[in-house]
Amino acid sequence: MRARWVCGDIGRLDALPLLEECFDLIYSCGAIHYVPRAVRVKLIPRLKAITREHGLHAHIVFTDRAVYVEKGERIDYFAPGELTAFYPDWAILTREQRVTDCDQDGTIHRHSMEQLVARSPAPAHPGGVTSVGVDLRSSPSLA
Ligand SMILES: C[S@@+](CC[C@H](N)C(=O)[O-])C[C@H]1O[C@@H](n2cnc3c(N)ncnc32)[C@H](O)[C@@H]1O
Repeated sequence: MRARWVCGDIGRLDALPLLEECFDLIYSCGAIHYVPRAVRVKLIPRLKAITREHGLHAHIVFTDRAVYVEKGERIDYFAPGELTAFYPDWAILTREQRVTDCDQDGTIHRHSMEQLVARSPAPAHPGGVTSVGVDLRSSPSLA
């Protein structure tokens, strides 16, 4: 598998050098809930449009069942089913809602999350074999 990392604000997808490519896997873990709801309603369809036939999306997002605000973060929590609702035309391979323990701020607390793996049914873009992850921790311009 070939993976190329692109660092940037996923909420500004148009500014990232991705739109000329297509992907077998788009994966995010604990990141898309930082994108405001008004932005992600456009983002996820754009990500679907650059995914190959039978390509996969795998996401883990925080949901609003167990809210704990740490480190002053601004999160637009997903409502139950909100993530899955972006994929009515895709095959849902796994979907799980769960609660996990966390102590990143020194206090033991819980986060609720939804985990989804969905498969594209039809070609959006024929072509390359690659993947993209969503994370900007190592982006110097956004750190
Ligand atoms: C809770 S951490 C999760 C990090 C890693 N994915 C993991 O599972 O350990 C949230 C990550 O989301 C990234 N993030 C937040 N907003 C983002 C955005 N608009 N675009 C891309 N990444 C973002 C942050 O840089 C941070 O690395």
